[in-house]
Amino acid sequence: MFLYALNAFLQVQVPGAAEKRIANIFKPLATPGDLERQAAYLTLAVTAVIFVVVAGLIVYTVWRFRRKPDDDSCIEPAQVYGSNQIEAAWTIIPILIVFVLIGVSARVIASVQNASPPAHALKVRIVGHQWWWEVQYPDYGFVTANEIHVPATPDGKQATYVELTSVDVIHSFWIPQLAGKMDLIPNRVNYMWIDPREPGVYMGNCAEYCGTQHANMLLRVIADTPQDFQTWTQQQQTPAVSDAQLSPARDAFGALACVNCHQVRGTPSVGKFGPDLTHLMSRQTLAAGVLVNDTKNLRAWLNDPQDAKPGCFMPSMKLTEQELDQVVSYLQSLK
Ligand code: CUA
Repeated sequence: MFLYALNAFLQVQVPGAAEKRIANIFKPLATPGDLERQAAYLTLAVTAVIFVVVAGLIVYTVWRFRRKPDDDSCIEPAQVYGSNQIEAAWTIIPILIVFVLIGVSARVIASVQNASPPAHALKVRIVGHQWWWEVQYPDYGFVTANEIHVPATPDGKQATYVELTSVDVIHSFWIPQLAGKMDLIPNRVNYMWIDPREPGVYMGNCAEYCGTQHANMLLRVIADTPQDFQTWTQQQQTPAVSDAQLSPARDAFGALACVNCHQVRGTPSVGKFGPDLTHLMSRQTLAAGVLVNDTKNLRAWLNDPQDAKPGCFMPSMKLTEQELDQVVSYLQSLK
C-alpha cells in the first residue's frame, strides 16, 4: 500500500509546479535502475563511513587541542616528521577503497550495457533536437514526439531498446526511475534499454546542457499495458483524420509556413524540422512537456511560442484571431 502510494506520488501525470521535481533514483522500477541503485547505496555507505571518520577526527582534534583560557604560552607543539606506517596506511587504504568502487561500477555498467535484447524487443529511435525529442518507431512506421509509449513488462521480457542520436548538439536522455543517463550525440548512435515494471508515466528530462531551453526539454515514458500499447500503436499508424467539415481549417493550416517544419501524415504537410503533428491530440503535453495540451495552451502557444519557451525555434507566426481559430480547430482534430 505504502509503495503504491509512493508510486502514485512519483509518477506525476500533469505539468505544473509538481512536474519540476526530478523523479527519485532511489525508487527504480526497471532493471538498469535497480542495479544502479545498489551501486549508489554501496558508494554512499563507503563515503558515509569515510565522512564520519574524517569529520569525527577533525571535531575531536579541534576540541581536544583548542587553546585553553589559562594558556598564554606561544610555544609550538612537538613537531613530528615522518611515520612510514601511518603514511603507508593512508595511501593504501584509500587506493583499495577506490579500486573496490571502480570494480563495482564497472560490473554494473557491464551488466547493463552487455545485456542482449530479447528477440521481440521493441525498438525505439530517439533523436534529440533543440529542444524536443523526436521518437521513431521503425517497426511500426510512425514518428511522434516527447512522449515515449512502451509496454510495461512486469517480468522484464518485453524490454524496450532505445537508439539515441542527435541532429544538433549533445543532449542526454534521463528517466531517473528507469535507467542512468545516456547521451545523444550527433553522428553517433548510442544504445540503452528500459523495462518499466509498472504501467504509468515516468518523468524525465534532458540531462546535458544543450542551450537556452535545456531546462524545458522534458520527456515522459508512458508505460502501457500490452493491450493499451497495441491500441496506441494501431492508432498512431493511421494517417491524420480527414474530416470534410474541417477542410477550410485544414486549408488555412496548409497555406501557412507551419508546413515547412511539421508533418501531418496523409496531407501535403511534410516538414521534418519540428515535431510530427499527425496525432498531436494523443499527447498529454505541448512544447516538450512544458504545457498541458488543452485548447487554451495550444492557442497561446501558437500565438507566441516565445512566451512559454523563450529562444525556441518555433517563431511567432503573427496569426490573426481568425487564423488562430482555424489552426487550433484543425490541430485539435488530429486525434
Ligand atoms: Cu537537450 Cu539539454
